[in-house]
Amino acid sequence: MSPFDTVIDRRGSDSFKWGKYAGRDILPLWVADMDFAAPPAVLDALHRRIEHGVFGYGGPRPSLTESVLAYLQDEYGWAIEPEWLVWLPGLVSGLNIACRAVDGEVLTATPIYPPFLSAPQFSGRPLKRVDLALDANRWHWDMTAMAQATSAATRLFLLCHPHNPVGRCWSRDELLALAEHAERHDLVVCSDEIHCGLILDPDKRHVPFASLSPAIAQRTITLLAPSKTFNIPGLGCAFAVIPDATLRRRFERAMHGIVPHVNVLGLAACEAAFRHGGDWHRELIAYLRGNRDRVAEVVASLPGVHMTPVEATYLAWIDVRDLHLAKPAAHCEAHGLGLSDGSDFGAPGWLRLNFGCPRATLDDALARFSKAVAAA
Ligand SMILES: Cc1ncc(COP(=O)(O)O)c(C=O)c1O
Repeated sequence: MSPFDTVIDRRGSDSFKWGKYAGRDILPLWVADMDFAAPPAVLDALHRRIEHGVFGYGGPRPSLTESVLAYLQDEYGWAIEPEWLVWLPGLVSGLNIACRAVDGEVLTATPIYPPFLSAPQFSGRPLKRVDLALDANRWHWDMTAMAQATSAATRLFLLCHPHNPVGRCWSRDELLALAEHAERHDLVVCSDEIHCGLILDPDKRHVPFASLSPAIAQRTITLLAPSKTFNIPGLGCAFAVIPDATLRRRFERAMHGIVPHVNVLGLAACEAAFRHGGDWHRELIAYLRGNRDRVAEVVASLPGVHMTPVEATYLAWIDVRDLHLAKPAAHCEAHGLGLSDGSDFGAPGWLRLNFGCPRATLDDALARFSKAVAAA
């Protein structure tokens, strides 16, 4: 039995995911956290930090910065400088700060994690959306549509890499095409790479967008965190990597007075995860691969529903348009399953299913999904 098979009861806890359906027999496979305990090394570090007993204002220690540099070098061959780091309480804050820091129109591609659509709006920036293309069961970039959507007023491109919700791990060639587009139109790229530790296909590698070339790094804000990979999003610890000093100053200025320090438990957890989370992470990926395959198998057996291969993330993006449901997520809730509705991602008729849970929970969820599809 895998440690990831252990079902931990999150009902009645502070969980946002499980609280949504409190008191109802609805399995929550919506918001993107996993129902697994954090790595033992992270729990040990948190225990040690709590035993210290004093929780004054804090900031990253040199050893944390070193752990980040070593992690990015070891995992991605990406060498960064300590002064490029800007610590953040979360990536959604980072997306909103980027929109405030860069003046002009924002460009992004749908379907997309909803804050990519709301951050420009909250920041008073016009937003242009391009649809990702779906051909031969594979999502990809429509560079013609990108060119058409980009104007002289476009200044910022919000990239999701790997992509939530379509689960693509963008290849070097795809990234190079995006980089060329950014250079041609002089765009700043904010690359949200929160899911980069969740590459499920053994033959795929995450390539940080900023690592493509020193010139590309100068126009890139990379947003990163240990939160998805090590399942600690509730600890609110993230960071931006911004090599260009002027862009970094603009970003930091937009934060002033409104973005709090990262809490000290998040900092302790981040260092422990990056330094000692490797074995746990390898087991996690193997487990998630099994879950992914199970979701794909069940979806393939059901009439009227389709999904593309999930290369990265623990999120399956399921096409239910052929079922002609007015409200697909509400229909699934009526059959005991809580999924995210595609309309929030700019794509009505789709559902997002989070398979970051013990297999017993997943099997129960898939049985409920099958019933929901049969009843459509
Ligand atoms: C692409 C992406 N960015 C950001 C976040 C959330 O980041 P945070 O919790 O650090 O604000 C998520 C969570 O699902 C995500 O999928």
